[in-house]
Amino acid sequence: MGSGIAQVTSLSGADVTLIDTDEGALDRALAAIRSSLDRFVAKEKTTAEAADAALARIAVATDLKAAAGAEIAVEAVFERLPVKQEVFRTLSTIVAPETVLATNTSAIPITEIAAAATHPERVVGTHFFSPVPMMRLCELVRGIHTSDEALAKARAFAEAAGKTCVVVNRDVAGFATTRLICALVNEAARLVENGVISAEDLDTACRLGFGHPMGPLATADLTGIDVIAHATENIYEDTADPQFFPPALLRRLVAAGEIGRKSGKGFFDYEGLSTGLWTAGGAATARRVSRGRVPAPARRRWSR
Ligand SMILES: NC(=O)c1ccc[n+]([C@@H]2O[C@H](COP(=O)([O-])OP(=O)(O)OC[C@H]3O[C@@H](n4cnc5c(N)ncnc54)[C@H](O)[C@@H]3O)[C@@H](O)[C@H]2O)c1
Repeated sequence: MGSGIAQVTSLSGADVTLIDTDEGALDRALAAIRSSLDRFVAKEKTTAEAADAALARIAVATDLKAAAGAEIAVEAVFERLPVKQEVFRTLSTIVAPETVLATNTSAIPITEIAAAATHPERVVGTHFFSPVPMMRLCELVRGIHTSDEALAKARAFAEAAGKTCVVVNRDVAGFATTRLICALVNEAARLVENGVISAEDLDTACRLGFGHPMGPLATADLTGIDVIAHATENIYEDTADPQFFPPALLRRLVAAGEIGRKSGKGFFDYEGLSTGLWTAGGAATARRVSRGRVPAPARRRWSR
């Protein structure tokens, strides 16, 4: 997510420093940005000169001190509150008091992250979507202390990067979008594990009946079933709402390491397929290899 946010920010003309404690992650990020920009050039969405210039505006660093002087710092580290809080605690000692501190968390309440920062009024949620260069939404989230000024700066930042913003006014776990996708994936997984419908038919129903470009189970495979399971656990912990308790099938797939495209298997089978960027209506659903279609064993395993 960090590399995607760096890419769209840099394309908007801003200088960007991409910071990661893992040097390998920085190398992978730059390679991913290069390859994404190449695709943009090939599709004539940008020029080769603009792509080269965007890449040249991105510096990399392994030390948070490189954020000194930033107008806005966007955190996109692991989805763990203590990790995020440590980043905000350290950033507070590095950047100016007026620097906006944004978090790309998908489900953790902004106020809990902001508790580690000085001047929590400048902390705001900027929830981008994967793949960032393709997805046009940025969900802005107010923490209890978030100032109008910080929200306006975050909006200007996201809009400059080509995103359309929606604002979540109350700091609830999962905001609006993560609650919606978790509720949908959880119910889809329950229907499949109870043998009500196959995974493939469920996704087909959502695509053809509701006009969704991708079914919820293929979406979970793309996002990572572990990521969805973790997000829904966070929401459940905060709300105690049973609809967010992760269904057994989700927990078993995570335990089995079958967490979607990145592992080659999830609700659907991706072996031999590229795990690169998804395009709407992509291989996950186009290829007719669905574990839900495999007659007896898959259904037995998933049914009560
Ligand atoms: N993947 C998605 O589809 C998606 C969508 C929206 C939001 N998010 C959110 O974005 C955030 C990042 O997700 P991701 O999928 O890119 O995760 P990721 O695991 O791919 O990347 C996280 C990166 O953070 C680095 N990191 C960890 N601790 C650090 C620290 N203290 N300082 C600097 N770097 C550190 C890691 O080395 C890693 O490269 C999470 O909060 C996630 O919930 C993810």
